[in-house]
Amino acid sequence: MNPRLFTFVGGKEGSWSIVDVKAVVGDPLPVTERLEIINGPVPDMPDGAKWLLRGVTSNERYATRAEKDLLVAKQTGLGRSEATCAALIPIRKNAKWWSLTQDERRGIFEDQSQHVKIGLRYLPAVARRLHHCRDLSECEPFDFVTLFDYSPADSAAFEEMVSELRASEEWTFVDREVDIRMVRDRA
Ligand code: HEM
Repeated sequence: MNPRLFTFVGGKEGSWSIVDVKAVVGDPLPVTERLEIINGPVPDMPDGAKWLLRGVTSNERYATRAEKDLLVAKQTGLGRSEATCAALIPIRKNAKWWSLTQDERRGIFEDQSQHVKIGLRYLPAVARRLHHCRDLSECEPFDFVTLFDYSPADSAAFEEMVSELRASEEWTFVDREVDIRMVRDRA
């Protein structure tokens, strides 16, 4: 089993109660009551579930050494007791993005869009984990599943950051994005 594989199940189980689902661009996902996050594979759709997404954590593609050092110095892990709000944001980028070379993508991601520079301003209030889906199979519905948690007091800051990123050049390549918001009301 790949220990870097995570499965996200939209259904009736899990610690997270889903409070809002928005299709930001492209097709929506069916609305469900809860999100369950499993560190491992889920071979069949559980009873009462309406969707299942999966992705693996991986090595960095874009962050430079200097950026990585800043990130490591500021970031914290998911699951702090006060971080009772969360966002699961699956994202797909278009064929034009994937036809670019690594240096061209890095140019858009950071030089033009300042993804890391913007994100760093919100650490350590927001914790994050990036999951890659693209290489798991030919028919994954998204390229990435991004997961964030934060305290209710940092909700406004989280909205500000997401708006800033969505207004960037990088996001002109996003052709499907669903924004799922949750609160933790079970252990
Ligand atoms: C807490 C603030 C954030 C920080 C510090 C941050 C940082 C980063 C870093 C360092 C990477 C590049 C990893 C690599 O080198 O491969 C990355 C990638 C990514 N982030 Fe963020 N990010 C933040 C917020 C967000 C938000 C709010 C979203 C979604 C709305 C998002 C979506 C993504 C996606 C989809 C990628 C993959 C891009 C690609 O490989 O094409 N990030 N982020």
